Amino acid sequence: MRAVRFVVLMGLLWGQDASELGERLFNQRCATCHKLQQKLIGPPLARIGERRSEEWFARFVSNSQALIQSGDTQAVAVFRAYNQQIMPPFPDLTDEDIRALWTYLNSIAAPQPVAESAPSEAKAVLYPGELRPMKVEDFAFLRRAYWLLAAVAVLVALLLAVVIHFVSVKRASEEQA
Ligand code: HEC
Repeated sequence: MRAVRFVVLMGLLWGQDASELGERLFNQRCATCHKLQQKLIGPPLARIGERRSEEWFARFVSNSQALIQSGDTQAVAVFRAYNQQIMPPFPDLTDEDIRALWTYLNSIAAPQPVAESAPSEAKAVLYPGELRPMKVEDFAFLRRAYWLLAAVAVLVALLLAVVIHFVSVKRASEEQA
């Protein structure tokens, strides 16, 4: 039991260490070009494991250009998407360093997609005569106005028919007289 606990504890400590090493390496070696949550010169790297494998990550970080030139589709695509800027190789990073970076980056919350145009408070205020998008209430009003007009038209037609009827009856009786 004690041995198990020891192993688990060491594992946790190692994980902690790896994450700390990863954070330090990221800040020293990557942060000039990468943010966690947003684009900088390169893509945001939080949760990189959701789109790349660990092996791919290791190869890209140690020498991105070698991977791109080998024709790897993902590497070529990201290279093109970032205007073919060259990420420098990091031949001095050990496997352990790269694993620590991977652990650290995947422990960060995923980047939030930036809302294209958040509806601003200012736009909610409308001044008389200002155009605004149609709302449900507007449609309800238009529908009501339409039925009202239709009803008026029917009434007018009926009234006309009655008037015409009486006028023609009157004229007929006058002609007889
Ligand atoms: C001088 C700027 C620069 C530095 C420093 C840099 N990168 Fe990059 N990185 C880029 C650019 C630019 C790209 C986009 C791909 C390309 O143009 O090659 C990129 C792409 C990546 C990608 C691919 C992301 C994806 O979505 O596929 C990973 C992973 C990555 N970098 C990790 C790192 C790590 C880890 C470090 C630090 C050890 C680092 N980078 C340091 C510029 C940099």
